[in-house]
Amino acid sequence: MLYEDLVAQALAAKEKGYAPYSGIRVGAAVKTADGSIFTGANVENAAYGLTICAERVAVAKAVTEGFRHIVAVAVAWDGEGFCTPCGACRQVLYEFGPGMRVIMIDAQERYQEEVLAVLLPHAFGV
Ligand code: THU
Repeated sequence: MLYEDLVAQALAAKEKGYAPYSGIRVGAAVKTADGSIFTGANVENAAYGLTICAERVAVAKAVTEGFRHIVAVAVAWDGEGFCTPCGACRQVLYEFGPGMRVIMIDAQERYQEEVLAVLLPHAFGV
């Protein structure tokens, strides 16, 4: 399976990130079981703890449009190395696709793939 479309959309979503406090814009794109793609970017706040990560914005958009089975997520940033989802986002992603692929992109637009179960071993699920 190739992820060029998902990678391109995560990179485009990154441009919409609102990150005046950290200066770190993050973009995410999730692919649902039917092939639909939903994007998200981080949205920071002056009250720092209210910041929303890019992945969770993308998940919320998919789920609230009626798509609950995510098969892959791509995450992009401008930082050093490959962009990996934070722990909170891993748990939120797990809820909607325990078997999903996680595509981590670097600033040179290269990417590497991992299964979510490796990034979040012994995940909590009911
Ligand atoms: N961020 C994300 O959007 N996703 C993650 O998985 C990790 C962190 C954002 C939150 C904050 O706006 C910035 O990156 C720096 O932490």
